[in-house]
Amino acid sequence: MILRKTVVTEAKVGSDPTGRGVRNREVRLLLAGCSVLAGATLFFSGCATRETAAPTTLKDAFRKDFPIGVAINQRQFTGQDTNGVAIIVAQFDSISPENALKWDSVHPRPGTNGYNFAAADAYVAFGEKHHMLIVGHTLAWHNQTPRWVFQDANGRPLQRTNAADRALLLQRLHDHIQTVVGRYRGRIQIWDVVNEALNDGGSLSDTNLLRQRSPWVRILGDEFIVKAFEWAHEADPDAILRYNDYSIENEPKRKRLIALIKMLQAEHVPVMAIGSQTHANLTWPSAELEDAALTDIEQLGLPIHITELDVNASQAGQRSQSADVSQNVPAGGGGVADLANQKLAGQYGSLFRVFLKHRKNIKLVTFWGVTDRDSWRSFGKPLLFDGEGKPKECFQAVIRTALNAPGKLN
Ligand code: XIL
Repeated sequence: MILRKTVVTEAKVGSDPTGRGVRNREVRLLLAGCSVLAGATLFFSGCATRETAAPTTLKDAFRKDFPIGVAINQRQFTGQDTNGVAIIVAQFDSISPENALKWDSVHPRPGTNGYNFAAADAYVAFGEKHHMLIVGHTLAWHNQTPRWVFQDANGRPLQRTNAADRALLLQRLHDHIQTVVGRYRGRIQIWDVVNEALNDGGSLSDTNLLRQRSPWVRILGDEFIVKAFEWAHEADPDAILRYNDYSIENEPKRKRLIALIKMLQAEHVPVMAIGSQTHANLTWPSAELEDAALTDIEQLGLPIHITELDVNASQAGQRSQSADVSQNVPAGGGGVADLANQKLAGQYGSLFRVFLKHRKNIKLVTFWGVTDRDSWRSFGKPLLFDGEGKPKECFQAVIRTALNAPGKLN
């Protein structure tokens, strides 16, 4: 109980608005992650003097605000994609594993011999080699989790009504978290512990808090969330533990997020940061909606991380606000919107103006991919670098937004 109390207090301190008052673990960590890199870039570009030389990289432009991260894939962390590696190292402070640490990648088969750490080890080694802030993604999710996890040894689906089934699933979750988080203890600094557990329904009258179709929810209810955070904290007491979800800009889902996190906080569950995926399109979220959502979420007193930023510019992608993996195939139809590059630049500029407004509480902004060719929504050309790795108009817009933000030159 005492331990849990400490965690909650510490997480609150993590949102210290100045980042100067209390040198808490998170602030130290994030600053440390940047300063190592600052030394190198400073040497080449004199980037620390924002006033005299315009920074040309993302990480320099936001040096005083928040670290900038990117999700990377196997060809990047193994060094095959040399072009991609050059961009990652030049532009970003932090990395997230696009797929390498998901359950089906790291733990494809049951049992203690069922783990495969080849990709995850290479991912972490890449981050260490380049002195980056390293994120782990993700421990409990309904997607990219092998079917055996939710079945008994004979392939029978585990049932909520069966106590032995529930105990088996909890045991598996415990072993997975202990093994994976434990292996990278002190090396992965931030974990997405629970991903996308909230009910997606778009109506306020839909009172289900959690995603009923998730096998985690179906079999264990909210217990898996509580346990996942507790076990992750046991496995690495220094890691920052996030709850991560998409479309939390929309009011019904945001209200559910706030209710869930308040419930966890009341139980002293060590949830330490909110991850907002922010899979956007050209018009959603508007600046007003993003601002309102961040303001609302700030009442939780936790740091906010933008975890999977991209802006879908496909025609069909303008109709959907879902980042549900299964719904992002239809979101690709119709070609790219007219004047897509200009509109992307406008939307990216608008989102970053809001992030900067909330920079007291935003502690990390991560893009979901390096170039348009790598992106999970490549049809929507959603990133700052084109398929060849050249910076797009939206890249310049993001840099300009950083430079023009009020109160930057102090
Ligand atoms: C996506 C990856 O980018 C794809 O390569 C993979 O095929 C499916 O998952 N929310 C998340 C991410 O939390 O893990 C998802 O990543 C995108 C939506």
